[in-house]
Amino acid sequence: TTPSLKEVFKNYFLIGTAMDAQQIEEKDAAADALIKQQFNAVTPENIMKAEIIQPGWNKYDFDLADKLVAYAQKNNIKVNAHTLIWHSQLPAFMHHIQSVDSVKKYFEDHITKVAGRYDGKVYSWDVVNEALNEDGSLRKSIFLEKLGDNYIVEAFRLAQKAAPHTKLYYNDYNIEQPQKRAGAIAIIKKIQAAGVRIDGVGIQGHWKAGSVPLNDIEESIKAFSALGVEVMFTELDLTVLPNPWDNATAEVSATAKGSKEMNPYAAGLPDAAQQTLTKSYADLFRLFVKYKNDISRITFWGVNDGQSWLNGWPIPGRTNYPLLFDRDFKPKPAFFSVIATA
Ligand code: XIL
Repeated sequence: TTPSLKEVFKNYFLIGTAMDAQQIEEKDAAADALIKQQFNAVTPENIMKAEIIQPGWNKYDFDLADKLVAYAQKNNIKVNAHTLIWHSQLPAFMHHIQSVDSVKKYFEDHITKVAGRYDGKVYSWDVVNEALNEDGSLRKSIFLEKLGDNYIVEAFRLAQKAAPHTKLYYNDYNIEQPQKRAGAIAIIKKIQAAGVRIDGVGIQGHWKAGSVPLNDIEESIKAFSALGVEVMFTELDLTVLPNPWDNATAEVSATAKGSKEMNPYAAGLPDAAQQTLTKSYADLFRLFVKYKNDISRITFWGVNDGQSWLNGWPIPGRTNYPLLFDRDFKPKPAFFSVIATA
């Protein structure tokens, strides 16, 4: 029988997956079986984001979120709720709001109502997501613009008040890179200096097979852990496809959706690419295991290759292979290479 990730790593860290609406309530039997067998943590891929949970001003829709929480509870799976404050996937009405007072009202109400409702029901929240630029400065957003650069501390303060029993995290991508990492460290220190609780930091982990930045990742685990917070890898996937920003030629053809150059593996993943993916996953998990005392959770961004967002982003209509389970929900060589690191 297939080994179970959550069993194999149970003394090290939680093993999570992203989960979307199609997988709750056993609507997708294959995904459901795999989730129950392999994972002890889930992150809602979309259904707790602001545009879904507060679709109209002060009009909340908790239907899908409640169902996901019930599913997780029934199956003894911890929910990392995602996410309260993020510049993306905001409700449409937020694009028309101008006044500082209205943004402030949205900010306070959204955090208080949503985090409050799920306190004691979810394990943790990504309180603030992707607040940094690549150079470590704060990203321009409606929150920075209208509320000023203290908004992140305030988000954690409100979340702490509304959800005293829930762990509170900062989450971002590329924060293993030195400049952006310095920005994340500054955020964490600022929250701590204000006497506000932050329990952990999530490094998203959207990397590329064959060029995973292992040294930067190791330095980041050490640096974040030294601040006394949990370190997590929260949205792990390794693309095997060219990224449009990798070189100028690719950029030119990036718009050619499904072009052979940008979508080379529509007919299947060749052995060499499969081996590169397998080795990258093994290298990563060897590092994770080395730092098992600092790392509290590893979450994959999707159940299997067929359900990965990377088939549609940053170029729609591609065939990607970034996860441990294939389109038939079968474990790939990368899965066994990961298991072997335990
Ligand atoms: C992605 C989802 O996977 C997609 O289904 C959705 O269309 C867009 O968002 N960083 C994050 C996640 O924090 O919420 C994003 O999820 C991927 C990048």
